[in-house]
Amino acid sequence: MENKLLYEGKAKKIFATENPDELLVYYKDDATAGNGAKKGTIADKGILNNKITNFFFDLLGKAGIKHHLIKVLNDREILVKKLDIVPLEVIIRNVAAGSLAKRLGLEEGVKMSRPVIEFCYKCDDLGDPMVNRYHILAMGWATEEELKQIEEMSLKINDIMTKYLVTKNIDLIDFKLEFGRYNGEILLGDELSPDNCRFWDSTTHEKLDKDRFRRDLGNVEDAYKEVLHRLTGEVVK
Ligand code: C5P
Repeated sequence: MENKLLYEGKAKKIFATENPDELLVYYKDDATAGNGAKKGTIADKGILNNKITNFFFDLLGKAGIKHHLIKVLNDREILVKKLDIVPLEVIIRNVAAGSLAKRLGLEEGVKMSRPVIEFCYKCDDLGDPMVNRYHILAMGWATEEELKQIEEMSLKINDIMTKYLVTKNIDLIDFKLEFGRYNGEILLGDELSPDNCRFWDSTTHEKLDKDRFRRDLGNVEDAYKEVLHRLTGEVVK
């Protein structure tokens, strides 16, 4: 039986499965930037992001971070726990780049003296506006306890990923996380890939992430392949 398509996003398709508590995620090659203003495809991005994300989720899982991934089905598909999504994009920043550099008039590459957490309300129509804890609690998007847990998990994830990536000569500049509820617990969802993380080569500061697509820097596929290769040694032709 064909799985029913529940939702098609910018980079992924979500299908129902026979188990109402589980979903099938399919990673596409489509790429967008500026909330859909710029569109394109990145060859094999779906395969690369699936593999990179699964690597990080495995790493985080072993360090005690609870996440939605149940099983890798194939190069583009995974089985995940169906979360009741907290409608927030949680951004963690170690080094100024992108919208933070612009907003605060900082040069890209300036290190933050401590990690910065930002929240955006997940809403395409509004362009994912930035919100603070007061908005989140007033709007009931998360409880105080959930928010505390989300912040603690985010900082722990940052710590684990930063330390691991340094061993691969990659600096974790910033990244975006999404969380959801499952059986009364907060779980990490979504992905961890060059689409939603800024990865810079520690030596050359070369960008190994979606900024190559957003800013037309060229060698987009090669950057994604390089990240996978450094993480797992795998070469995607
Ligand atoms: O654009 P900005 O500098 O705010 O992005 C910060 C981080 O969050 C980047 O790593 C970017 O890839 C990620 N992000 C994302 N999805 C968004 C906004 C930001 O993955 N909608």
